[in-house]
Amino acid sequence: MEPFSRRGGRLHAESVPLERLAADAGTPLYVYAANEIRRRYRAIAAAFAEFDPLVCYAVKANGNLGVLGLLAAEGAGFDIVSGGELHRVLRAGGDPSRVVFAGVGKTDAEMSAALSAGIHAFNVESEGELARLDALARAAGLRARVALRVNPDVEADTHAYVATGHAGAKFGMPEGGARAILAGAAQWRGIELVGLHAHVGSQIRESAPFERALAALEGLGGEFPGGKVPWIDVGGGFAIDYEGGPGLDPRAVAAALAPRLRRLRARLAVEPGRWISGPAGILVTAVLDVKSIDGRTFAVVDAGMNDLVRPALYQARHRIVPVVESEGDRPRTDVVGPVCETGDFLGLDRELPRLRAGDLLAVLDTGAYGFSMSSQYNGRPRAAEVLVDGETWRTVRRREGLEDLCRGEETPAG
Ligand code: LLP
Repeated sequence: MEPFSRRGGRLHAESVPLERLAADAGTPLYVYAANEIRRRYRAIAAAFAEFDPLVCYAVKANGNLGVLGLLAAEGAGFDIVSGGELHRVLRAGGDPSRVVFAGVGKTDAEMSAALSAGIHAFNVESEGELARLDALARAAGLRARVALRVNPDVEADTHAYVATGHAGAKFGMPEGGARAILAGAAQWRGIELVGLHAHVGSQIRESAPFERALAALEGLGGEFPGGKVPWIDVGGGFAIDYEGGPGLDPRAVAAALAPRLRRLRARLAVEPGRWISGPAGILVTAVLDVKSIDGRTFAVVDAGMNDLVRPALYQARHRIVPVVESEGDRPRTDVVGPVCETGDFLGLDRELPRLRAGDLLAVLDTGAYGFSMSSQYNGRPRAAEVLVDGETWRTVRRREGLEDLCRGEETPAG
C-alpha cells in the first residue's frame, strides 16, 4: 500500500482522505502512515538478516509514543540520546534490553536510569565518560555494557551540521583512545566491553562511508578479550530521497559491509531514524492568505518554522503538493509560515495551483525530524499528530492549547 496516494485527485493517507483528517484534527497536522513505518523497519531488518541485526530506531527522528509503540510491536530496538528518550521508549512498551544509548553529554542521572533499566549498551564517547559510568555501575552493584564510539575520520557528503565522523568533530574518540581503553579493560570493574560503534552522519547517500567506518573499526576488533568483538554498531544515517526516489538501499549497505562483518563474526546493530519514519509522514497545513508582492506570489500557511525547521536550518527542500488537485495555471509560489522571520518558509518558488485561503497543502517526507524538532516559538502551540493504519486513524498527540504555552511558568507575584 502506498502511504500517500491520490484517489480521484484527493490525497489520502493509506485509505483515509487527508481532508477528513484535517477537518477532524485541525491543521497544522502531522500524519503518519503505520504500514509504511512497519514496511520500512522490516526492509532494514531483512537487508541485514545475515548478521542477526539489532535494528535500533533512532528515537530523535520521531519519538511519538504511537510511532515507538508500533515499532516496539515489530520487535525493534531503539537508539536513544537522553533520559527523556529512554522514558519515551519505556512508556511506549519498548524492550530496554534492545536499547543503545549514544550522545556526547550523558548526565549521571541519565546513565543511572539507563543502567537500572538494563539497556543493551552505552555507546561511550570518551574515557572520562567511561570512568563516570564505571563508578555509577559499581556503586549500584551492576556492570554497564559498553560499546566504544570511535571517530572513524570519514568525510561524508552531507550537510555540515549533520556530518559527525570526520576528524575534529565533537563525537566519539580517536582510534588510539579506544585502543588504550581496550588495553586497560581489566581496571574497569563496572564495565563490560561488548562492542564498537561508529556513526558517520545523517542523510548519507552511498555505502562507501559506512564501509570506511567499518574498516576503521575492524582493526580494533582483535583487541577485545579473546580476539573477537561481540558487537559492531555502524550507526544510522541512511539517506532518503526528498524528491521521491528510493533513497539509499539498505541492501547495498549490507552488501558493502558483508565481507568485513563475516571476518569479524560480530553481531550487528544499526541505528536508522530518517529512513524508517521520514517518508512515512507528512505535514498538512492550511492556506491562510495569498498575496502578490513585486511579482512574487506568497501563500501564507498555518505551519511555520516552529512546526518544521528543516528548510530554515538546513536549507532542506521538501516537496509540497496540494491535498486536492486542481486544473488551471500553476504560478510559482513561495509557501511561507506565519512566524516573524524571513527565514520562515516551507518552500520557495514552487509550482502550485492558484491557491486560495482554506486550501490544504501537504509537505512531504516530514515523518523524521519534523515534529521532533518543533517548538512553541512565536507563542504557537505545537501541532497535533495522527497515526493512520489502513482505514483507521487515531490522534497520537493532541494539539496543544494555550495553557500548554505557559505550563510550569509563574508571574513574579507567584
Ligand atoms: N545514530 C546516531 C549516533 C545519530 O547521531 C543519529 C542522528 C542517528 C543514529 C540517526 O540518523 P538518521 O538515520 O536519522 O539519519 N535533524 C537533522 C538530522 C540530525 C541527525 C542527528 N543524528 C535533520 O533534520 O536532517
